[in-house]
Amino acid sequence: MTQDQLKQAVAQAALDLVLPQLTAKSIIGIGTGSTANFFIDLLAKYRMEFDGAVASSEASAKRLRTYGIPVYDLNSVPELEFYVDGADETNEHLELIKGGGAALTREKIVAAVADTFICIADESKKVTQLGAFPLPVEVIPMARSHVARQLVELGGDPVYREGVVTDNGNVILDVYHLNISSAPELENQINNIVGVVTNGLFAQRPADILLLGTAQGVQQLKR
Ligand code: A5P
Repeated sequence: MTQDQLKQAVAQAALDLVLPQLTAKSIIGIGTGSTANFFIDLLAKYRMEFDGAVASSEASAKRLRTYGIPVYDLNSVPELEFYVDGADETNEHLELIKGGGAALTREKIVAAVADTFICIADESKKVTQLGAFPLPVEVIPMARSHVARQLVELGGDPVYREGVVTDNGNVILDVYHLNISSAPELENQINNIVGVVTNGLFAQRPADILLLGTAQGVQQLKR
């Protein structure tokens, strides 16, 4: 199976989980990236079964709207049962690295609000220890050099993602070679650097369910 077929399979598995629980009032949290896009494309066929969505990026909001799916401001939503999103890496504790698409801050906000975070990923994303994928950190532009120096103190090699401005008007530092032996601890440490908006470790709020696409089928892992 190709990577895209695996992504499609996990998107379908997420839909199969979510669909029976939707009502006409349901609003679904939708992530960002190619795997989330497969989910949006499948969900669109069931447009009449739910009310609308909250999106973790302008790109996903645009895709949802092209299908006629209403996109709500998170502040106007009383409850979010599900958040469905991809990841750049996951470990066995369902701690994640996210932000390859620069949408990490909004992704983290929507994940924080959702009752159930369903992560959908192909098997290439499963690792024993997080960190081979460089950790994205969203930074207020004027703090870029300061934050980079602090990240070096933590043992990382930050690289400015040139030409990328997040939906929030900030910049991204991708941090290589971090030792992520305790993801929750490092997540807090980096978030405490002045000028950091947030980082792409999802360890304080990991996924609740991981649907992992493998050549043998979709595996479901729970926390
Ligand atoms: C977006 O900022 C990321 O967190 C994505 O969720 C992540 O990069 C996964 O993307 P793909 O589904 O395209 O692999």
